[in-house]
Amino acid sequence: MTQPRKYSLTLFGATGFTGGLCADYLASHMPADAPWALAGRNLSKLESVRDRLSAAGANNLPELIQADVDDQASLDNMAQLSKVVITTVGPYVFYGEGLVRACADNGTHYCDLTGEPEFVCNSMTRYHASARRTGAAIVNACGFDSIPHDAGALFTVRALAKKLGGQINGQVTMEGVVSAAGTFSGGTWQSAITAMGRPTENRFAMKHARMALDHEYPKTARVLPMRPKHDAELGGWLAPMPTVDPFMVVRSARAVDGYGPDFRYGHYVAGKTLPKMVGGMAAIGGLVLAAQIKPLRNKLLEYRQSGDGPSAEKREKSWFKVQFRARSGGEQVMCEVAGGDPGYSETAKMLAETAMCLALDKDQPKRAGVLTPMMACEDRLIERLQAAGMTFREL
Ligand SMILES: NC(=O)c1ccc[n+]([C@@H]2O[C@H](COP(=O)([O-])OP(=O)(O)OC[C@H]3O[C@@H](n4cnc5c(N)ncnc54)[C@H](OP(=O)(O)O)[C@@H]3O)[C@@H](O)[C@H]2O)c1
Repeated sequence: MTQPRKYSLTLFGATGFTGGLCADYLASHMPADAPWALAGRNLSKLESVRDRLSAAGANNLPELIQADVDDQASLDNMAQLSKVVITTVGPYVFYGEGLVRACADNGTHYCDLTGEPEFVCNSMTRYHASARRTGAAIVNACGFDSIPHDAGALFTVRALAKKLGGQINGQVTMEGVVSAAGTFSGGTWQSAITAMGRPTENRFAMKHARMALDHEYPKTARVLPMRPKHDAELGGWLAPMPTVDPFMVVRSARAVDGYGPDFRYGHYVAGKTLPKMVGGMAAIGGLVLAAQIKPLRNKLLEYRQSGDGPSAEKREKSWFKVQFRARSGGEQVMCEVAGGDPGYSETAKMLAETAMCLALDKDQPKRAGVLTPMMACEDRLIERLQAAGMTFREL
């Protein structure tokens, strides 16, 4: 980054459901001397968000920036004014690329909430080189996708290294198992159905990103072949979870020190009993199939509208935990990452903490380019999340 910026950070998408929660979090956590801004396409909606923050007692109120994904100059302007831009404007595969380009070109750090593999992979193949050149950290998946998994895996290898006398010299096999209760917003539904409806584009983007990754990071880290299985120690019946998370975990393992020379990761959702696991897999399989057929996909998209999301009462009752088991050199550790409502309250917190880490903390980010959260912030982000109430512990 070459010049000082007017704003420490800017939140793009502040008028949406998750953007609104992130604005609330930032209003109560941004230091008084750090100017920040809310951005969106509709100024009067942004004013309403700022009025709500003011009524809630915020004393460091944000300024407002008009920006629209259909107007590249407005995205460049936002990137030039800001040290870090957060975006909650999705589906990212439709709305996200212009802002990644603006941030990569202008040396501006960037954090998003995508869980769309196609978007992450295209960002890597198209903008990694320019971001490296300008010093921008383009950090994808800073919400429930993928921080608990990415940060939990790093926390677990740190615990394993301690058990092995300080260093991992052999192969590490790690499995992560997710359990959660919660519901989703209209924006998440739109993004998930969109991603499910683009299997060919996803495969193509993934193949090219893998080739770029192999070239840049020669260290071995792979996703384990995953099948449904029973594992009493990890909570019963487990179904493979083919989300973007394992891809993010192995990218961190390749780039960050501490995962050992050969790291393998498997990612599961806890089904507990066999009927529950089979029922869950059948429901997901049905959704994926329906998303391939345009009229059915359009019907599915109508089911939940952009802007809506779970009430505060529902979010209060929601929770998640991810348990990790890692083995190497005859030793084993079990660790857990846990918190409240995964999709929204905790996601807003994780996104804001990542952005504040990049904007405010000494010696951050750790590297430039298109990155995972751990590649960008390493242990400092885990410390921030612990201080913000998320649990990271060895079991
Ligand atoms: N991975 C995770 O853990 C996780 C968790 C939560 C959310 N998410 C993702 O975050 C994204 C947002 O979800 P959400 O539920 O908050 O969505 P939402 O409520 O529908 O909000 C979408 C936001 O995008 C803005 N927008 C749409 N078109 C725009 C344009 N042309 N220019 C500028 N802004 C535009 C909307 O502005 P207007 O108000 O002007 O319409 C709104 O602020 C989704 O992609 C979702 O999948 C991911």
